[in-house]
Amino acid sequence: MQREKSIELLRKYLKSENLIKHCLASESVMRSLAKKLNADEDLWSAAGLIHDIDVELTYGKPEMHTLEAEKILIQEGYPSELIEAVKMHNDAATGGKKRETPFHIALAAGETITGLIIACALVLPDKKLSSVKPSSVLKRMKDKRFAAGARREIIMECEKLGIKLEDFVDIALKAMQGISSELGL
Ligand SMILES: [Fe+2]
Repeated sequence: MQREKSIELLRKYLKSENLIKHCLASESVMRSLAKKLNADEDLWSAAGLIHDIDVELTYGKPEMHTLEAEKILIQEGYPSELIEAVKMHNDAATGGKKRETPFHIALAAGETITGLIIACALVLPDKKLSSVKPSSVLKRMKDKRFAAGARREIIMECEKLGIKLEDFVDIALKAMQGISSELGL
């Protein structure tokens, strides 16, 4: 579960630079969430990093997304706990099975909010994460047409972690701002 190996695997299966950035953003958000919740930072961040490895493989078949990932990650010796979390982040593959554990909830909510935050940066004149204000992310949360792919009900699962939406936005935004140069934003 070394980071370099995960990056190498991601680069093998994902050609889109934006998807790689989404994975890096999810990694950083998951590390911060683990820190906040006293969970396993390495495990959570590794899950964030690798969670979308099969997105391009399963393009056009959303119900398969994470099932191909499962095969790859088993093959590569990733821990079953991580693979389970990866599987649980895609409702289309699980049939909407309810996420119960903090790890599963954090991955789904955490990876989803990265999309909203990136969209918030991209509409600004300088397109910089450092210019994004938590208040504008909260405002965009209510405008469902904005970054419609970032499903608000999944982001709202943060409350099941005992983290209020305002705090969740703050944690995710700070995490992503911390790697802004890697994200090129
Ligand atoms: Fe994702």
